[in-house]
Amino acid sequence: MAKTYTHILSLAAILLASCAGIRTSSAQTIPSLKEIFKNDFLIGAAINTMQIEEKDSAANRLIEQQFNAVTPENIMKAQIIHPSWNTYNFELADKLVAFAARNNIKINAHTLIWHSQLPIFMRKMQNADSVKEYFQNHITTVAARYDGKVYSWDVVNEALNEDGSLRNSVFLQKLGPDYVVEAFRLAQKATPHSKLYYNDYNIEQPQKRAGAIALIKKIQAAGVRIDGVGIQGHWKYDKVPMADIEESIKEFSALGIEVMFTEVDLSVLPNPGDKQTADVSATSQSSNEMNPYTNGLPDSVAQKQASAYADLFNLFLKYKDKISRVTFWGVADGESWLNGWPIRGRTNYPLLFDRNFQPKPAFYEVIDQRKNDKD
Ligand code: G3I
Repeated sequence: MAKTYTHILSLAAILLASCAGIRTSSAQTIPSLKEIFKNDFLIGAAINTMQIEEKDSAANRLIEQQFNAVTPENIMKAQIIHPSWNTYNFELADKLVAFAARNNIKINAHTLIWHSQLPIFMRKMQNADSVKEYFQNHITTVAARYDGKVYSWDVVNEALNEDGSLRNSVFLQKLGPDYVVEAFRLAQKATPHSKLYYNDYNIEQPQKRAGAIALIKKIQAAGVRIDGVGIQGHWKYDKVPMADIEESIKEFSALGIEVMFTEVDLSVLPNPGDKQTADVSATSQSSNEMNPYTNGLPDSVAQKQASAYADLFNLFLKYKDKISRVTFWGVADGESWLNGWPIRGRTNYPLLFDRNFQPKPAFYEVIDQRKNDKD
């Protein structure tokens, strides 16, 4: 991989900065993803509580410099924002809105209806009318509060099985198969000024993609607003399904909606049985074989990951008229969920910035794709 002129310049600057023991200068001297892709698509990152409360200075500097969109990794999920029947906890979400406004960053709120991270009182619910009341109150109360303050919502997250059928969640059991359409209907009424998306993992895969397309068409046929679909993008660096991704961009955009890559990370670690899934309930035990890079990421693997990210961004640029946002699921390797899933206590390297918030080879390869993209 040819070391680009900018790469050499930044390296020199970083060397200078490190000789001077000044850590900060590196952030200012490296190119900015949001600037470089500003005419193509939004560039975002999932951010955690520390970053929302601006208690992680190195990460916050990168967030302000690199990203023009953020997704709250956990704080707007029902378990945290709606802990009991009549109690809503808006403190962190309000801080997020203030942080984003100060930094001119768009918020993709995540997520109104999801089978996971539900509040305890809701998980115990058996009565269908109670589930319905929860469903209506939750969507209406939370979405109305942030109407126009958040740019968009993942209204429903991960409602499908791998074969494209509806996941057997409490919402399907108690509200029936139209609950997804009803979620979007309630959201469009509560938040007319925010965009509404369906979000899921593996929907680039043909069977699950067909299920997602059927779901989106059902919402559209009901005359209810849906503005886009989010393909999460939790992939392995050596198994990125490029052909399926390209086909999914074509098929989803043909529905007249935005296509987004909403939770991108390229894991470099093996997984038990190596099934591609992001279902957080599937966990397993650690071993050296499963945690081979505790002393740093070998250059050879870092380069392969960089090429995989380059191929992905090359594809995103090819379809930039159909793709509205690319969001990484985290800011830097150190706080990625992939250090703790599906095996706790591992050392993974899935993102563009390392544990010192320094750009990795993948960062420069991604930037180079923009330079190579002529128009
Ligand atoms: O906040 C508590 C802390 O108080 C407690 O001490 C600690 C002990 O376990 O848990 C902390 O909560 C954890 C939370 O992350 C905040 O760190 C939860 O246990 C943990 O389950 C939760 O994991 C999140 C996971 O969703 C839960 O489903 C990950 O951070 C988050 O990255 C992940 O994100 C999902 C997307 O929402 C949807 N798509 C897949 C993606 C990855 O699973």
